[in-house]
Amino acid sequence: MTNVTAQLDGSPKRRLYAGPDLERAKTIDDLRARTHKLMPRFVLEYLEGGAGDEATLAREREALSEWRFVPRQLVDVSHRSIEAEVLGKPSPMPLAIAPSGLNGLFMLHADTALAEGAARFGVPFTQGTMSNDLMEDVAKVEGLRHWWQLYVFGGDEIWQELLRRAEACGVEAILLTTNAQIYGDREWEARVQIDGKPTPSAAFDATLHPRWAATTLTHGLPSFANVIDFIPKDQRSFFASATWIRDQMWKSLSWDTVAKIRERWKGKLILKGLLHPDDIRRALGSGVDGVALGTHGGRQEDWSVVALDVLPQAREIAGDRMTLLMSGGIRRGTDMLKALALGADAVLTGRATLYGLCAHGADGVHRALQMLHDEARDAMGQIGVVDLKALGPDALVSMKS
Ligand SMILES: Cc1cc2nc3c(=O)[nH]c(=O)nc-3n(C[C@H](O)[C@H](O)[C@H](O)COP(=O)(O)O)c2cc1C
Repeated sequence: MTNVTAQLDGSPKRRLYAGPDLERAKTIDDLRARTHKLMPRFVLEYLEGGAGDEATLAREREALSEWRFVPRQLVDVSHRSIEAEVLGKPSPMPLAIAPSGLNGLFMLHADTALAEGAARFGVPFTQGTMSNDLMEDVAKVEGLRHWWQLYVFGGDEIWQELLRRAEACGVEAILLTTNAQIYGDREWEARVQIDGKPTPSAAFDATLHPRWAATTLTHGLPSFANVIDFIPKDQRSFFASATWIRDQMWKSLSWDTVAKIRERWKGKLILKGLLHPDDIRRALGSGVDGVALGTHGGRQEDWSVVALDVLPQAREIAGDRMTLLMSGGIRRGTDMLKALALGADAVLTGRATLYGLCAHGADGVHRALQMLHDEARDAMGQIGVVDLKALGPDALVSMKS
């Protein structure tokens, strides 16, 4: 991502801004640099890592880099807007924060901080089943568009109870994750753990990050607050509960499960993690409101295609009959524009907003959203597009040979 073309043999020396002044953070990469400064190694492996050879993870950014804009000039771009409808409601930009589990590893009440940043900006926040703040507490965040990511594990009573609570909390949309029944093998994360706990060297490294320890560890390890009551009493420690949930994931998750959930959940329902065109065709007839294409941030199936690779075909299949979200690799406003031009109705951000969270809490989340928004709006001006209706595949050309 680093642009070296204006450097000659490393001169002038360039450095991302990793300091404490939020106003000086220019891009998501600056927030990422600060995240790397503040977080211990085992937390960074959890945040950054992908499965296996990390080939899927690498493909996320590679796929985006294969598309270039073909700018139009002499267009009046004095008034530009990136406002859009997201799942039937107006939004300042077509973006929602993606679900991530275990945010409590980054800081105490991280889920609430993500929700606050999102609500202040006016975009939805997706809380994960593996989150650490109670759904009911996050729901209290003023002005929040609250979405919930559902994992199906254990007995029927777990997903049914989560849906009941989601309805009571005013959750708008359920994102049913379809690609994590078999836990992705994140080998680099495993290398800094023994029996699911940090190695002695990773634990020592954590002691060298006192600011992280002060905002996180002093309150004890996070717990999976929303599902802990379903976990057998003798398995409720942090590490044991994570393993229990992983083991209990329904390997039999199927279209029948989708039908059961559809019957019970009256709000919006999105299938998260589809990529195959036949699955998108099948989704069309399943009564869901949409699909979120993606690879779980490269953390599940290695060597797979990514959302951007299948977006144009997915749009062709879905037409205007279904919402198409995508996730994977969004770090720039231009990334968002590329996904929208290729057929997405909105993008989901995982790491970009998590870098904001790790660097500066709720303010950092808001700042990350502002960066993506402003970059996208400026880029629209540069390519001669005034609103999203005018943005289509003709704005791009593929560099793939
Ligand atoms: C630390 C982390 C934890 C995640 N946890 C979940 C999860 O619990 N459920 C889920 O459906 N997706 C999860 N994801 C995947 C994200 O929802 C999203 O699809 C992905 O992060 C998008 O890629 P990006 O990080 O490049 O934006 C997680 C991603 C990260 C980085």
